Amino acid sequence: MKHFFLLHVAVYVVVLLGSLCEGKVMMEYIGATGVPVTFEPVPIRDEIDFHFILSFAIDADQSGTYQNGKFSPYWAETLTPDSVAAIKEEHPNVKVLASLCGWSLGDKVLAWYNPKDPKKWISNAFSSIQEITNTYHLDGIDIDYENFSKRGNNTFAFCIGELLTLLKNQSVITVASIAPYHLTTQPYIDLFSAYSDVIDYVNYQFYTDKVRQPKGYLEAFKLRAGQFNAEKLLPSYEIDGRGIQGDAFFDALELLEDYGFDVDGVMIFSADGGAANGYYYEKKSQDFLLNSTSI
Ligand SMILES: *[C@@H]1O[C@H](CO)[C@@H](O)[C@H](O)[C@H]1NC(C)=O
Ligand SMILES: *[C@@H]1O[C@H](CO)[C@@H](O)[C@H](O)[C@H]1NC(C)=O
Ligand SMILES: *[C@@H]1O[C@H](CO)[C@@H](O)[C@H](O)[C@H]1NC(C)=O
Ligand SMILES: *[C@@H]1O[C@H](CO)[C@@H](O)[C@H](O)[C@H]1NC(C)=O
Repeated sequence: MKHFFLLHVAVYVVVLLGSLCEGKVMMEYIGATGVPVTFEPVPIRDEIDFHFILSFAIDADQSGTYQNGKFSPYWAETLTPDSVAAIKEEHPNVKVLASLCGWSLGDKVLAWYNPKDPKKWISNAFSSIQEITNTYHLDGIDIDYENFSKRGNNTFAFCIGELLTLLKNQSVITVASIAPYHLTTQPYIDLFSAYSDVIDYVNYQFYTDKVRQPKGYLEAFKLRAGQFNAEKLLPSYEIDGRGIQGDAFFDALELLEDYGFDVDGVMIFSADGGAANGYYYEKKSQDFLLNSTSI
């Protein structure tokens, strides 16, 4: 009888802890720099939804000519369909996304180019992403256009919003995120204000704001939380990069919590640079997320 009771208490505690950790998310870009990176060595905590973001799928051929919405994968060749299947099998809490576009392909700086026929672009994008998703066993899409043509109508919000809506509606993907930075907030605000229903996370690139101190980070977070949505906005860190560096990042996360923001996720760019420091930021970010679970 006593044992029976204890068993029930144990089950209850496990369920309680599980539900408190629900919704904690780690997002990490991988495969953008050309180094032969793999999923295997990245530390993954079971209690956190770990999202790898393959960088990048691009609407262009190898020479950088745009393909009217027909995306192809350009991430590190070491990130194969089999390796995606393997990491997801080993860790059921792992999801894998493909990020669309990125900064450049080879020497060519990529831009949102306002397709002449938006409906055709959406339909090409839908089919090519569906194919990539099936081949690579993906769960979602991240949007990382970083340069916007000033000419013509801005078709970005419409094309991307309709694409995400269709991909979700047809159950091709279950997760969608967007990755604005300080020079691209407006097109992303346009997108988010019309299509927030289909956007799960905002991977705002805080490192581009070049804020180096926790107090400045809090101010930047308040600004972006007002432009997007505090619940969906993730603090972010660039390994060996711009903006806040080292343990000051974790001081900034504490400051966000002290101010009243719930830090339920962290985005890191990128796993390509993680091995060099023993994945310090991946480990400590996940520890922070689990520590901040309050009873
Ligand atoms: C966008 O790309 C063009 C080159 O294609 C470059 O001249 C321009 O500076 C870029 N804009 C931004 C905001 O980076
Ligand atoms: C912009 O949109 C308006 C209204 O939909 C249309 O009349 C106009 O031709 C478009 N301009 C360009 C450059 O696509
Ligand atoms: C897809 O859209 C149709 C029509 O609006 C709707 O009835 C259906 O519930 C949607 N399915 C999903 C999975 O969102
Ligand atoms: C998590 O909590 C432990 C125990 O209180 C502490 O030693 C550690 O520094 C914390 N880690 C982070 C990243 O907050």
